[in-house]
Amino acid sequence: MNKDKRNSIKVVDCQVLAHYQFEAGQYILTLSSEVIANQTKPGQFVHISVSDILPMRRPISIMSVDKDNATFDLLYKVVGEGTRQLSERKIGDVISVIGPIGNGFEMTENKRPLLIGGGVGMPPMIAIAQSIKHTEYDPFAILGSEVPFPFVEKMANNGKNYQGATHTMPELEEWGIECRLASLQAYQGVFTGYVTDLAKVYLDGLSADERAQVEIYACGPHPMLNVVAILAKEYGLPCQVSLEENMACAVGGCAGCVVEVQTDSGPAMKRVCVDGPVFNAHLIF
Ligand SMILES: Cc1cc2nc3c(=O)[nH]c(=O)nc-3n(C[C@H](O)[C@H](O)[C@H](O)COP(=O)(O)OP(=O)(O)OC[C@H]3O[C@@H](n4cnc5c(N)ncnc54)[C@H](O)[C@@H]3O)c2cc1C
Ligand code: FES
Repeated sequence: MNKDKRNSIKVVDCQVLAHYQFEAGQYILTLSSEVIANQTKPGQFVHISVSDILPMRRPISIMSVDKDNATFDLLYKVVGEGTRQLSERKIGDVISVIGPIGNGFEMTENKRPLLIGGGVGMPPMIAIAQSIKHTEYDPFAILGSEVPFPFVEKMANNGKNYQGATHTMPELEEWGIECRLASLQAYQGVFTGYVTDLAKVYLDGLSADERAQVEIYACGPHPMLNVVAILAKEYGLPCQVSLEENMACAVGGCAGCVVEVQTDSGPAMKRVCVDGPVFNAHLIF
């Protein structure tokens, strides 16, 4: 771990304040923690104890924070035993959480962040959106899902139609962040196609000057990130991606999460938990 990161990761006991279930085994969990609410950067995650039975924690991205009320939200999908046990946590339960962990996204001088989140890769994009709301940035967010979205989509106030994409996530609309949704499932108001197809529609609608201000930020399954990296290369755009590798310790000790990254001195193995989870897409894919 970098010296400047020492003592920045805390073990905290968080109380469950809300736990909502959505379709397809998706959950939004609200936990109390002043430290995590105040110290989290977009793209960071927590390593959460899912129950008293399973010793191995699970990594989940921090989706949003509420500094006034000292809380933070996670969005997760049940995919195995760990997330299933997490879904049984009740309001009032106290959960041990390690966090905030990892190097988050770097917001640069490129003023048009294009946020692309697929499935449970949506939370880090929502975290970026929250961090740049009401700033000089002019972002566009694309959220993709092949199961019903874990929120009730609504028509975007600006009425813009991107080849059938008219609906948005209400919270992003409240934050003044333009957002459209994509899916192969032909949901109403949602772009029918991949998130990267909708990204092309958005990019092609910009002038050359506007396009030169775009930087792509993405999180989602590896095949999606691979196509995002190709798209970024095609349009000559910088691109940061957050990887979701399996993790054991999540604090840099076990090397169980390494990926190959291109560096100036050749390929190097980097730990996703503490060297990432955010990397320059062009050095990974
Ligand atoms: C940085 C990061 C951020 C993430 N953010 C999110 C998010 O915001 N939302 C979300 O839904 N998902 C997120 N994920 C993915 C999430 O961590 C996995 O879906 C979750 O760990 C699955 O756990 P599971 O036990 O339900 O599934 P499983 O597939 O059963 O287990 C997950 C991993 O744990 C291992 N494992 C399970 N049990 C044992 C055991 N007894 N001994 C040893 N190994 C075991 C498995 O081999 C597997 O590698 C994120 C992952 C990373 C790395
Ligand atoms: S999970 Fe142990 S080093 Fe990353």
